[in-house]
Amino acid sequence: MMSIEARFLRRARLAALALAAAAAPAAAQTNARSPDERAAALEARMTDAERVRLLHSTSARPDRTGKPLPDGAIVSASFTPGNPRLGIPALYETDASLGVAWVNGLRHDGATALPSSLSLAATWDRDVARRGSALIAKEARAKGFNVLLAGGVNLAREPRNGRNFEYLGEDPLLAGTLAGETVRAIQAAHMISTVKHFALNAQETGRHVANARLSDAAAHDSDLLAFKIAIELGQPGAVMCAYNRYNGPHACQSEYLLGDVLKKEWRFPGFVMSDWGAVRDVRDLLAGLDRQSGEELDDKLYFADELLAAAQADPAMRARMRDAVRRMLRSMFAAGLFDDPPAIEPLDVAAGDAVARTAAAAGTVLLKNDGVLPLLRKAQRIAVIGGYAHVGVMSGGGSSQVEPVAGPAIAFQPAEARRRIEIHPAPPLAAIRGRLPADARIRFDDGHSSTGAAALAADADVAIVFATQWMSEGVDAPDLSLPQGQDAVIAAVAAANARTIVVLETGGPVLMPWLREVGAVLETWYPGSSGGEAIADVLFGDANPAGRLPITFPATLEQLPRPKLDDSSDPDRDVGSQSHALRGFDVDYDVEGADVGYRWFARTGAKPLFPFGYGLSYTRFDYSQLEVTGGDTLRVSFSVTNAGDRAGKDVPQVYVVDRAGTKGLRLIGWSNVSLAPGETRRVEVVADPRVLGAWSTERRGWQVRAGDYIVQVAHASDRADLSGHANVNGRVVR
Ligand code: BGC
Repeated sequence: MMSIEARFLRRARLAALALAAAAAPAAAQTNARSPDERAAALEARMTDAERVRLLHSTSARPDRTGKPLPDGAIVSASFTPGNPRLGIPALYETDASLGVAWVNGLRHDGATALPSSLSLAATWDRDVARRGSALIAKEARAKGFNVLLAGGVNLAREPRNGRNFEYLGEDPLLAGTLAGETVRAIQAAHMISTVKHFALNAQETGRHVANARLSDAAAHDSDLLAFKIAIELGQPGAVMCAYNRYNGPHACQSEYLLGDVLKKEWRFPGFVMSDWGAVRDVRDLLAGLDRQSGEELDDKLYFADELLAAAQADPAMRARMRDAVRRMLRSMFAAGLFDDPPAIEPLDVAAGDAVARTAAAAGTVLLKNDGVLPLLRKAQRIAVIGGYAHVGVMSGGGSSQVEPVAGPAIAFQPAEARRRIEIHPAPPLAAIRGRLPADARIRFDDGHSSTGAAALAADADVAIVFATQWMSEGVDAPDLSLPQGQDAVIAAVAAANARTIVVLETGGPVLMPWLREVGAVLETWYPGSSGGEAIADVLFGDANPAGRLPITFPATLEQLPRPKLDDSSDPDRDVGSQSHALRGFDVDYDVEGADVGYRWFARTGAKPLFPFGYGLSYTRFDYSQLEVTGGDTLRVSFSVTNAGDRAGKDVPQVYVVDRAGTKGLRLIGWSNVSLAPGETRRVEVVADPRVLGAWSTERRGWQVRAGDYIVQVAHASDRADLSGHANVNGRVVR
């Protein structure tokens, strides 16, 4: 008897071979032409029925649709059958922000779970982004997929947002650049990537009905800029529009967002796919939506017979339908879906583990260290407490959920959660044991009771407390406190042992009422399927922490632009999917405008718990010899010295604090520098002129004003290690 997995692999392999054979003649005839020409030629040969067939996709999940899996489909987020007559390949789409999604184990195969995207953002490192996405793309191809639902780049306007772990923090330049690199790596592997969720889907509470209010200028200086940078750099085949409304219309019905901004002003040549369950009318097509995704989640199958009839009755509809098809085919040609179809292969699990481990260590942020870290590999008594550290590490929930090949170590559904919490089988406890001699004494306590945990800590040389915060798509955190009484356990352990190290595995920022009492704090986010080893690498100094916060850690909820999450009082609002019927409400992002995160803190003068850009190392870096030159943009060069006695990696950041007389803090660039002890290197940061300017709605561009610009080079957003200034020319940049 063949196992389910073997049957799946065989079926997928046959399907891929059949498609490759069918696609070959079409591809061969047209190889010399551009993706636009090939798409136009192919589209012209299609019947209207064939065109419409491309414009909707099924949720390839029998558990959701209640129907058998369509022939040739792979269990995943979405499937669109190919067109054998014309050699058009089927679209096999999987969620892939952190790895190939696990879809509740329905496919009976796992994948490498990379650390959360917020961890990637904490690396500030384009290479880590590229390597991680190249790995995801390779594994996805090996499973037969050719479209990756990746590239989440919504800005973290709301630290309680359940999906912050899928996004890249609060700064548009950092988030857009890293998202762009991930998309570029995926497309380079001959797959289509999305960027998502366009735009302003900044909280999960009421996500289908919330109306994000934000001026056009502020949106362009923040969230839209992040998307634009990601799109320019990554050239994704698709943009996924968001669930929420933006200044009135829903994002997937917004002629302004999809038609005017994305397609006209940004000249985006690819297609817009809806988020799953975000289509409301066949006329959404006229607003700029090209594809209805996961059609079973909508009230109706709009983009099939209804679209065909509308196209036949209305020339504008038909023209738009043909444009949508051309856009999809263009993206398929441009990415290489026709010429290089995926081939089913076994995964190289060890290679995946290695990439995930390096990435997790690189994204770990050392928030506090009074000298207790790094740990020595000697005989000692270590108490390991809490956080499921004996079985694994926390992972984030929702459509991006990945599980390694063996599945979760444990999965459970607490009464208050509506989804399963899954722990990756990557136990830090075993990894810590593996670093210590046989005569070291390592004991574990599950942290359920403060008394037991404190007793164990009192009888140890060092106590390592693991604290977890589970976050998920569809649910925002109620506040910023660690759940389930973990603060009390940490406080009790710290009172029992001054050498207490707190290892956080959280979806985003948390408050730390015990901060002063503990010896060290590491933020490891969701560290992925090699998380245990990566944490031990940092604890024992095999990896020198180089992560820097991509998101501000507030000291209190009152410091936020919206101390209370909008409409979180309605319990029905926290479910993402079929909540169209709920009453709408506004979320007023004009409060902070473009001043998201650290810029809001700088504007209000509030002192965060930890600022954006902050992170310690086991060595020390000094900055000197600043030179700033102006002209059409700012060029900032300076020397970075490793003044400590260990090799390490630094992320010197450059902020502008005054733009031709307008005060305000803004990241304009950074550098990633690896230095041996005592080594000095000169680095240069060239500002993207758009972050020197401000969006002008009249001129439809970023207006850079002529004048003197003051910059500071810093270890974090709240300090200036060096400062200088130069004159910048006035102009409008697009
Ligand atoms: C999410 C998307 C995801 C899609 C398909 C939606 O609920 O918002 O990010 O790609 O489902 O699984």
